Amino acid sequence: MTRKKVQYYITLRDQSNLPIYTLRLPGSRIYVVNSPSLISAVQRQYKALSLWPIAAKASVQIARFSKTASDIINTNTNGEDGDRGCVITFHDAIQPSLAPGKHLDAMNRVMLGLVAVSLNRLEQQATTKVKLFDWITQQITFVTTNSAYGPANPYKDPAAVAAFGTYTYGISSLILGLPFTPAGRASIQAMAFGSTAFETYFRDDHHRKGSALVQARYDHSMEHHIPLNDIARAEFANGIALLSNTVPNTGWMLYHIYSDPIVLADCRRELTSVVTMTNGPEGKPTHTVDVSKVKTSCPIFLSTYKEVLRTYSNAVSARRVMEDHMLDNQYLLKKGSTVLMPSPVQHHNPGIWGPAHDAFDHRRFTKSEKRINPTGFRTFGGGNTLCPGRHFATTEILAFTAAMILQFDVKPASGSWKRGLKRRAEFWESTLNPDEDFEVEVRPVEGEGVKKEWAFTLSDLDAPIALSAEDIPEEGH
Ligand code: HEM
Repeated sequence: MTRKKVQYYITLRDQSNLPIYTLRLPGSRIYVVNSPSLISAVQRQYKALSLWPIAAKASVQIARFSKTASDIINTNTNGEDGDRGCVITFHDAIQPSLAPGKHLDAMNRVMLGLVAVSLNRLEQQATTKVKLFDWITQQITFVTTNSAYGPANPYKDPAAVAAFGTYTYGISSLILGLPFTPAGRASIQAMAFGSTAFETYFRDDHHRKGSALVQARYDHSMEHHIPLNDIARAEFANGIALLSNTVPNTGWMLYHIYSDPIVLADCRRELTSVVTMTNGPEGKPTHTVDVSKVKTSCPIFLSTYKEVLRTYSNAVSARRVMEDHMLDNQYLLKKGSTVLMPSPVQHHNPGIWGPAHDAFDHRRFTKSEKRINPTGFRTFGGGNTLCPGRHFATTEILAFTAAMILQFDVKPASGSWKRGLKRRAEFWESTLNPDEDFEVEVRPVEGEGVKKEWAFTLSDLDAPIALSAEDIPEEGH
């Protein structure tokens, strides 16, 4: 398990072909679910099989909360004492700020303006040489954190960005209870730095000029009497949700599109067809891309995105068995055990994706989406723990990638794209990263360069795309 990580579950599935099996570890049992229909059964039993006690424990470990905050967070984690527990009310508290609607549109509009700003800076240079994933980390961090935190975004300080990198590097040590290792100690120090910056941010009420998301998170913690320094710790740790998946998925999008001339031509053709010429704020002719139209009129581009999500997902949904439970009237799950549902097992299920499930096929989702069992696509998890940030992340990744493709060419500095890049992820990370970064040259597309203005908008009718089984309306609805 330690060596092969999530791949281990695929190997066991291929060897045993069981719907569900038990891994016995000293003092505990893990049940690993392979069958899509059993995953649905697990998700329906959200009280008997609950994520929240696991989430409460993990959040205390990674945010290093005070005893006061830890006690609040670890109380009533599964509704055993009414439905007002801090952890169980969190999802509903932030959901409205990220669900399709006015709050999400507002955050998306700020984000789209920032995408344009960030790439305009690049346009002023003829050719820029950067390390691809490192550069995307900088761009996405700039865009995402400014959209979330507003004008007083603590990440405007490069030291806060660096502290976040150090913090995430040591998270595995913190979760494994090894805070005294060098990585663990550095992570704790970085958290101290980041949380001080966020404490000032909240104390000065800067969150009131930030997104509805940051306000909902703050208000929820205040309602549960979490001390201010702990709210700041939670916010710094929340960088994981905000950034750790959006960054690599954007990187893989650019890698697959630019490294394959067919994918690039397909995506560029579709995107070019949704560009309109408008008059910009100062009467200058401006090329405008309506990202809502990208979602409705660029099927190959969207398929490429979903194929990236399918290929690089490392997410493992977990549940604690709260009482002995007979799953689907067939399988006895013992109280205190853990249920795991690794997404790669589904994403590499030949029964769902066919024999070429290991191949990257950018048109895969244009061909067969209707026939695909939606439970087989679990990049964002599912059930009552489904990722609430999926629509924001999707709009950001699509907008950033579209803006890049329309304005820039990207070539590897070494002359040829590396194939079969090795991938890595810590056990808590939901998206794979490349094993090593590599240099690329970014230059404006000929004829599209400095002389043109670009703008990215969202129409009033922006509609989300289906990203999970839960997003697909049931028949007859
Ligand atoms: C491509 C980008 C993203 C991916 C692949 C992703 C994936 C996931 C996954 C796999 C889960 C666990 C779901 C489960 O166990 O059922 C999750 C949960 C979560 N995600 Fe995301 N996520 C992304 C972006 C975001 C963003 C941008 C935000 C915030 C704006 C966010 C906020 C959250 C939160 C708050 C949870 C915990 C849910 C809860 O406590 O109810 N995610 N995400």
